[in-house]
Amino acid sequence: MSRLFVLLTTLLAILSASLAFPNDVDLLKRQEVEDPSSSADGTFGVLNPPPPPGPPKFTGTKLVHDRAHPWRPPRDGDERGPCPGMNTLASHGYISRDGVASPSEMITAVQEAFNMENKFAIFVTYLAHLLNGNIASDLLSIGGKTRKTGPDPPPPAHAGGFNVHGTFEGDAGMTRADAFFGDNHSFNQTLFDKLVELSNRYGDGFYNLTVAGELRSQVLQDSIATNPEFSFKNVRYFTAYSESVFPVNFFVDGRRTEKKLDMDSARSFFKDMKFPPDFYRSAVPIADQGLSEIYAMHPFLPGGNVDGKVNNFAVDPASADFTKPCALYEDILNTVKRLYPNPAGLLRRNLIKCLHDFHPGVAAVLGRDCVEQFPYGKK
Ligand code: HEM
Ligand SMILES: *[C@@H]1O[C@H](CO)[C@@H](O)[C@H](O)[C@H]1NC(C)=O
Ligand SMILES: *[C@@H]1O[C@H](CO)[C@@H](O)[C@H](O)[C@H]1NC(C)=O
Ligand SMILES: *[C@@H]1O[C@H](CO)[C@@H](O)[C@H](O)[C@H]1NC(C)=O
Repeated sequence: MSRLFVLLTTLLAILSASLAFPNDVDLLKRQEVEDPSSSADGTFGVLNPPPPPGPPKFTGTKLVHDRAHPWRPPRDGDERGPCPGMNTLASHGYISRDGVASPSEMITAVQEAFNMENKFAIFVTYLAHLLNGNIASDLLSIGGKTRKTGPDPPPPAHAGGFNVHGTFEGDAGMTRADAFFGDNHSFNQTLFDKLVELSNRYGDGFYNLTVAGELRSQVLQDSIATNPEFSFKNVRYFTAYSESVFPVNFFVDGRRTEKKLDMDSARSFFKDMKFPPDFYRSAVPIADQGLSEIYAMHPFLPGGNVDGKVNNFAVDPASADFTKPCALYEDILNTVKRLYPNPAGLLRRNLIKCLHDFHPGVAAVLGRDCVEQFPYGKK
């Protein structure tokens, strides 16, 4: 049902945008979110959000910058954010071009266009949805907060989208500045210049795993030296190391045998949110392969600058790290419980379902010994 509504919404969005009535789009999207399921207890949302999609049948390489997915620049009101992967998918219509989609749509899109491995896609997407999405409407913004995700859940839940700092989005990004400096989600040319410089120095003009390891380390040292509020632990610790290998795993054309990214392609994804011409996806389903290699180059424990001072880094022994990955699952559950201390009705049911759908991703990415937990009961 929700899939049909989203299709409808997308059609309407395209139609109304070309007629230039952007406010109607918002209104329509809102109504669709509210109408089908205003429930007896007064909560709004989608009944029975679908379970996450399984892996696709065909998992080889193929042309994904095809005629069915032309690039278009974002229109006024379209959401874009800190993730160059998801930004690109929105700008090519693999997810709704307005940058608002359900977790299922995001998983289908990252599998189809980037050949992201199924359980890994489930892990990342449900993580983002639990922390920054609207659990009642089953919609998530890849950028800032927008009415298109439907009425807000009760605070402290915020449904604020990818841009919210400190849940998923965090410090020491490669091409996005730390929130302390203001804009935490837009492409930052100064930072990209550093990626290019290190690609020249360590990769002969290409971004490969050697460059990824050097850049990860340098960005961390820069944040320690300049950001008095620098924080790098739990979710952020894991996602930052993953994201450092993503350009090698996902942005390199699937027909290439050498895993190295040229700078025109890097600029195309990071800055223009656009597939390079004639782009083929990875030749195999892929996730965060290469993470342990880049970590081993410059091991770094989770922590942050303390007492609001630069160059004052302290390790946080309470944080999850790669030797205790299930502590990350605990941390995520604690954040969810903080965001939703007392969910009721449809919100609670969707939350239970969402946590349950998340767990196969947790088991696959963090390890089978991260036993499923039921903070809100089982149904
Ligand atoms: C599967 C669902 C995905 C979600 C929910 C997601 C979400 C995010 C978020 C919230 C960030 C910002 C974190 C931060 O740096 O502070 C991010 C960064 C990033 N994402 Fe994604 N992402 C997804 C898939 C992908 C895919 C498929 C790719 C590559 C094709 C990708 C590439 C990246 C890269 C390279 C960064 C780091 C950007 C930088 O540091 O400059 N992501 N992602
Ligand atoms: C870009 O990043 C640098 C380094 O973090 C920061 O000093 C600068 O303010 C950022 N520029 C913009 C326009 O946000
Ligand atoms: C992150 O960026 C968004 C959009 O510019 C801004 O609203 C938000 O306050 C920023 N977060 C922090 C903690 O600076
Ligand atoms: C990255 O490229 C450089 C320069 O060609 C090379 O020396 C290095 O071995 C490469 N790293 C990897 C992991 O392939």
